[in-house]
Amino acid sequence: MKIDIVGSDATLSFNSDAGARILYEGLESIPSLPYECATGTCGSCKAKRISGDFAWVWPDAPARKDLKTADDFLLCQCEATSDLKAEVRAKLNAPQAVNLCANWYDAQIIASENVAPGVMCFSVKLGQTTSFVPGQFMVLEFEGIVGGRAWSMTNFAEKTDVLDFVIKKKPDGALSDFIFAQQSVIGLKARVFGPLGRAVYQQALNKDILCIAGGSGVAGMMSILSAFVHFESFKKNKANLFFGVRTTADAFFLKELSELVVQAAGAMRVVIALSDAPATPELIAQYPHLQFGQGFVHDVAIQHMDGQFTPNTRAFLAGPPPCVNSAMRTLLMQAKLPATEILYDKFN
Ligand SMILES: Cc1cc2nc3c(=O)[nH]c(=O)nc-3n(C[C@H](O)[C@H](O)[C@H](O)COP(=O)(O)OP(=O)(O)OC[C@H]3O[C@@H](n4cnc5c(N)ncnc54)[C@H](O)[C@@H]3O)c2cc1C
Ligand code: FES
Repeated sequence: MKIDIVGSDATLSFNSDAGARILYEGLESIPSLPYECATGTCGSCKAKRISGDFAWVWPDAPARKDLKTADDFLLCQCEATSDLKAEVRAKLNAPQAVNLCANWYDAQIIASENVAPGVMCFSVKLGQTTSFVPGQFMVLEFEGIVGGRAWSMTNFAEKTDVLDFVIKKKPDGALSDFIFAQQSVIGLKARVFGPLGRAVYQQALNKDILCIAGGSGVAGMMSILSAFVHFESFKKNKANLFFGVRTTADAFFLKELSELVVQAAGAMRVVIALSDAPATPELIAQYPHLQFGQGFVHDVAIQHMDGQFTPNTRAFLAGPPPCVNSAMRTLLMQAKLPATEILYDKFN
């Protein structure tokens, strides 16, 4: 089927197979198509039919409830059933933060580790190498689980066939239940689509970076901070990470974060914000290169950053939507950061 997407500045075309999500078919050649989550929850990929037909692949997609007419649909959750012309509210020829096209990869889990209660890290090996930018994510589909799930890469490599992820168990989540019920996830096969996402860090940025993450939102921050060290950006810029968890037992990646702080030679600060109980003296003694604060991560961030915001700051936010929304409000209202300098991924 031929798909014509009419943006505010151009009309771009691509082909889409029956059964395939229109967004994914389009992102194989057009990285400027509008989207955020790529998995049916945010509504950013909304389009309006001009002519032709589509069908819902996931009729219960949460973002569908905000659509006003039967001609409105989500590019990420619909397939074309004829040639289709649709309008989006986006500039299709506008310069993009990332110009990488997305692709499908066959993949298999090759390593895994439980790093905190209900938190698992694992690595997948792809059938071919890929490139991604720190902060990006992939959509993974597992056999027997309907739909894909977005997960941010924790590793950083300019070209690689291994992707590292961290997954936090969601109560009653379909894929969470599946993954955490396995005796071992090693050997599980998946289809992986990406890279996706525009909340990215690039070597040319030349800004101080402020990362605020709740729970598994730290995933993409690991990749961003690794790149900050790899590119030796610490020679010109500063990095701050505020990582929110509930209690000492819920914290993970502390060893890896300590190592990054040391490598960044004084230009990186990592503060673990514990919302439910203060850090134990043992934890504080074990990680002398990390700092600890008590409270919600956005509150801890604004306290520690008091007087330290530079006009040259780029913020990255990730995690559950309430955490990202609070951090965003705090940065806009209290820190007066311009909205254009705040990039985020809401883990719906
Ligand atoms: C950009 C982004 C990055 C993310 N990164 C991470 C990460 O690094 N680590 C992490 O733990 N989580 C991450 N998440 C959240 C993750 O995608 C899942 O929501 C989470 O793992 C829970 O999945 P679940 O299957 O257990 O829960 P569920 O509630 O069963 O499903 C969660 C999501 O899966 C999709 N889905 C569910 N059912 C269907 C269906 N029938 N058809 C199609 N789609 C369906 C929907 O998007 C739904 O919101 C990220 C989310 C986004 C948007
Ligand atoms: S990108 Fe389609 S709903 Fe989020």
